[in-house]
Amino acid sequence: MSREIIVSGIRPTGNLHLGNYLGAVANFLKIQFEHNCFFFIADYHSLTTHPNPKDLHNNVRQVLVEYLACGLDIEACTLYIQSDLPQIPELYMMLNMHAYKGELERVASFKDKVRSQPNNINAGLLTYPVLMAADILIHKATKVPVGKDQEQHLEMARTFGNRFNRIYEKEIFPEPYAFNYGKELVKIPGLQGGGKMSKSDGDGNVINLVDSPDLIRKKMSRAVTDVGPTEMNSKPSDAIQNLFDLMKIVSGTDKLSHYQNLYSECAIRYGDFKKDLAEDMILFLTPIREKIAEIDADNELLKKVVKLGKEKANESANKTLIECREAIGFRPF
Ligand code: TRP
Repeated sequence: MSREIIVSGIRPTGNLHLGNYLGAVANFLKIQFEHNCFFFIADYHSLTTHPNPKDLHNNVRQVLVEYLACGLDIEACTLYIQSDLPQIPELYMMLNMHAYKGELERVASFKDKVRSQPNNINAGLLTYPVLMAADILIHKATKVPVGKDQEQHLEMARTFGNRFNRIYEKEIFPEPYAFNYGKELVKIPGLQGGGKMSKSDGDGNVINLVDSPDLIRKKMSRAVTDVGPTEMNSKPSDAIQNLFDLMKIVSGTDKLSHYQNLYSECAIRYGDFKKDLAEDMILFLTPIREKIAEIDADNELLKKVVKLGKEKANESANKTLIECREAIGFRPF
């Protein structure tokens, strides 16, 4: 496969959890060596919800630390902070001139916000898809690894890119498409019995990469189970199957079979099972937690990472922006 240009934005909100790590981040780790990847921390985007100026820097820093600890390699990919690229707001402004109120108001994520935060429907929210298009188009990306919920934003990015090309009669932007992770994308269940590991179901539903061993023990002991099997060879409930799925990942199949057999024989003791799972979870996460602490303490390293990312991303963004300015008709005197 030939190398494609890939762009993905990371929202600077909260800590990464095991589900993020085994899902999205694991994918970044893989594709960074296979393609020309630009990963950035989307701090401009976060302004739509007016973060406290005292928190903004640390939110960005935390995400940076955790992604580095997971194994993003700054030699292989370009990792940068969105607000280090003035070219992005400039392209955003240009694209905004051809983005229409009607089409922006029809975007599902905007309509959701109108419902969920009726007191803060600012122009930044309305034009969020334009800023996202600028993020992607500025590097002429063709692939964007995002979840299903972002498909519509990608469609808008294609619309805005094509429109620009057409209006200014230049083939500047290629069409970006959602990157298909493929079927191998593992679903990581949460601890509260329901669907996937997600913060929206509360902190007790997720295991964060920074959680201490004691906190992991506590969360695991509270993980939802059921009354236990009453018939031999019965099918586990969703809650128990979730814990089995987690065990498969952090403990391996041998231990999983052991507990599955106990389950089939109605001899499983959930307390022991969850304790065992908690200890394996701790073993699994300890290297990452230690790496996070190490990087967190190394401000010099972070400075270097940010500087390199800024340089590499600026170079790519400048090239595109020069073409855009020319196409629009800005000329030097
Ligand atoms: N909108 C994305 C999200 O909510 C984050 C994002 C911003 C993004 N800009 C991007 C993702 C550009 C991919 C490409 O998760």
